[in-house]
Amino acid sequence: MNTPDDGGSLSYGRRTARLYEPFVAAVTLGRYRPLLAREVVRLGLGPADRILDLCCGTGLLSRELARRLGPDGEVVGVDASEAMLEQARLAGGRVVYVRAEADSLPLPDGHFDGATLFLGLHEITQAARLPALREVRRVLRPGGRGLVLDFASGGPALRRGAVRLALSALEGPEAWTITEPGLSVLLSQAGLRPERPRPVFLGVLEVVGFARP
Ligand SMILES: C[S@@+](CC[C@H](N)C(=O)[O-])C[C@H]1O[C@@H](n2cnc3c(N)ncnc32)[C@H](O)[C@@H]1O
Repeated sequence: MNTPDDGGSLSYGRRTARLYEPFVAAVTLGRYRPLLAREVVRLGLGPADRILDLCCGTGLLSRELARRLGPDGEVVGVDASEAMLEQARLAGGRVVYVRAEADSLPLPDGHFDGATLFLGLHEITQAARLPALREVRRVLRPGGRGLVLDFASGGPALRRGAVRLALSALEGPEAWTITEPGLSVLLSQAGLRPERPRPVFLGVLEVVGFARP
């Protein structure tokens, strides 16, 4: 999804932002939204929970989270790309959108009950991934829980090779490094307690639940 930028601080321009949701629907054969709905249920939200959706993009997941909360709940969607946030605001939903870099969140310590980071980590530069997860830890309350979805580290060598090639071609030279050492290791290094990874989309991606001790 990298294109010359015409809006955000990253590689998402306005045109790419407009095309993002149809593109995701097409490449996942319409299965991404139902996956989000299932994962939000797994998160087991309370009606008044406060949730951070980091790297929220056009707000697909943020809106799903907001739908599941009561009137006292709160969803904050954070993204570095103004073009993606513009698109997210157009789609509506009870979400507060904030433009920020993932490794420097303008949000208070211990404020959130839950956090999600879907398809964002591989786009964050390798050096900023651990700082970003440490920020997630900082803004979660003790006992707060979350979910990360990204490219999986394991699986057959042929599939890993294909994923790495595709990521290098589409997302730039560093994206594939998300598959090494993998989401669970990164979460642990950030001081979060990962659960067992769950493969999704034929094991190309994995979801890892985590808790802040
Ligand atoms: C593939 S989109 C995923 C959007 C959404 N989470 C979803 O599942 O549809 C990745 C998003 O991560 C954002 N992003 C990449 N690097 C970032 C960073 N360092 N800080 C904040 N957002 C970042 C991009 O702007 C983009 O909107």
